[in-house]
Amino acid sequence: MSKPTVFVLGCSGSIGSAAVRALSTKYSGKLNILAGTRDVASGKVASPRSLPGVTILQADMNNKEALRDPLTGVTSLFIVTPSNGFRLAIGAAEVAKASRVEHILSVSGLTVELPNTMYGKLFGKLESSIKLLQIPYTLIRLPSFVDNYWAYKHPIQQNSSFSTPADPTKPLAAVVVEDAGKAAAAIMVEPEKHYGKTYKLISNRHTLNELAVAFSHALGKDVKHERISYETFRCQLVDVAGFSEENADAVLETYRLIDEESPVVNQPEYTPESSHFTQITGEKPTSLQEWVNQVAPSFK
Ligand SMILES: NC(=O)c1ccc[n+]([C@@H]2O[C@H](COP(=O)([O-])OP(=O)(O)OC[C@H]3O[C@@H](n4cnc5c(N)ncnc54)[C@H](OP(=O)(O)O)[C@@H]3O)[C@@H](O)[C@H]2O)c1
Repeated sequence: MSKPTVFVLGCSGSIGSAAVRALSTKYSGKLNILAGTRDVASGKVASPRSLPGVTILQADMNNKEALRDPLTGVTSLFIVTPSNGFRLAIGAAEVAKASRVEHILSVSGLTVELPNTMYGKLFGKLESSIKLLQIPYTLIRLPSFVDNYWAYKHPIQQNSSFSTPADPTKPLAAVVVEDAGKAAAAIMVEPEKHYGKTYKLISNRHTLNELAVAFSHALGKDVKHERISYETFRCQLVDVAGFSEENADAVLETYRLIDEESPVVNQPEYTPESSHFTQITGEKPTSLQEWVNQVAPSFK
């Protein structure tokens, strides 16, 4: 019997590349793995030699006509919603339906529970559009990424501190990108088990003070969180990090949710029984200290 074919559309970014790594590591014997990027030659995707079982293809969500052929015969399609491309992801789901893809897996956000927030609106529209297509789907709602803390590398190296506008004593739920990739891969290998399901993928829950302590332990020096005003932080996002005004406001909104102790970011503590990550993969998610220990050599 031929192997089922799965497709990761948007394979070069954080979540897409983690899903392709997990598929290749665990399931290359069971699946044909297709990985789509707009620019195969860019070198953003690891070479096929380091990713057994993976075929990298040119795929542009903007070019719906050209997507039809590569999607034909696909048992599970992971549409990695581009950060500024919610409309593109909906279009890709429509092509998937026309190409008779058997199952769609899509990235959403926890903020979908707050339809008045900017990301809540966008992810809400994405989710409802996918449901309207009436083909089997699974949604993974993600909190903010632990991997976003790579942005603190230089401040921690240079000043032993990192700054945000949020109250560092208030907890937030977060996901490690590698965990999200593992869960996506486990869903794609047995999609029928996950038809119609919406999961929250959370790796750990921590405060920003606890993040500072985790870096202090791993680096053997005192690392501190510094609280700055929302206005200063917004200027840093736009003027230094190159965010658009709109994206900067959306990021600020998520920090405000921490301050407000919104239940969307202040999720309950991990238990094996309640964790969707553990239910899907059978594994324990990555703790904050484990992630910090893994990246610490690069923060020295
Ligand atoms: N960062 C967070 O804390 C956070 C939290 C919750 C949810 N999310 C959401 O999670 C999603 C994924 O995030 P991410 O960081 O993995 O995204 P990312 O690193 O920006 O990757 C986006 C992917 O989309 C692909 N892409 C962009 N335009 C495309 C097009 N026209 N056709 C095909 N592919 C296209 C890119 O591939 P190529 O450039 O190679 O084509 C890339 O692989 C986003 O929707 C984000 O909003 C993020």
